[in-house]
Amino acid sequence: MANPENIPPEPAPDCPLCPRLVDYRRENEAAHPDWFNGAVPSFGPPEGDKAVELIIVGLAPGVQGANKTGRPFTGDYAGDLLYATMLRHGFAKGTYDARPDDGLTLHRAMITNAVRCVPPQNKPTGGEATTCRPFLVSRLNSLPALKVIMCLGRISHDNTLSALGMKRSALTFGHNAVHDISLDGRPAALIDSYHCSRYNTNTGRLTEEMFDDVFVSIRERLKAI
Ligand code: URA
Repeated sequence: MANPENIPPEPAPDCPLCPRLVDYRRENEAAHPDWFNGAVPSFGPPEGDKAVELIIVGLAPGVQGANKTGRPFTGDYAGDLLYATMLRHGFAKGTYDARPDDGLTLHRAMITNAVRCVPPQNKPTGGEATTCRPFLVSRLNSLPALKVIMCLGRISHDNTLSALGMKRSALTFGHNAVHDISLDGRPAALIDSYHCSRYNTNTGRLTEEMFDDVFVSIRERLKAI
């Protein structure tokens, strides 16, 4: 994964790179000065980057969730299902209470987003994802024990493939599809899931059981690699 310009794994909270997202941030700051309103940093385990074996790549912060609280998926509807499932499978400890100070910690896992700033209507443009990608590349490069990348949704899948320097056609997105990949020569897996969004769970595209099945695959892969 090339990172020729030595981009850090986390953008500055007031990252200026995407004009539309900066405008939207300013609007939110004006209306809600008490919210986080910045590029949301990845959330990792207390032991640090070296302890991360699983990284979960979401799409982008929700306006009243991660953009408000400053922690990925925290306060977002999608976070209720994500954190409950991670707790059940041993990738988180404590209690999730939709607040960054709820005391929840991650275990062997990290959560990040393909785009770090909240986009209007939850829809980042392709250009914004491209602009934000060096941070994803750098983030993936920063994890020496990484074995499994979980992609939440097709956009995350596509951006992760690009971050890995792979063609988007190289791996087909599918719910609970497990793909063998190599991370700097080390065997690893990329595992897809439908995004745990309110829309997907309300329409029945994604059930709790289906989401759980993906974490079963993740645990199997982590054991096998
Ligand atoms: N919140 C996030 O942080 N990421 C998502 O993909 C959705 C909600």
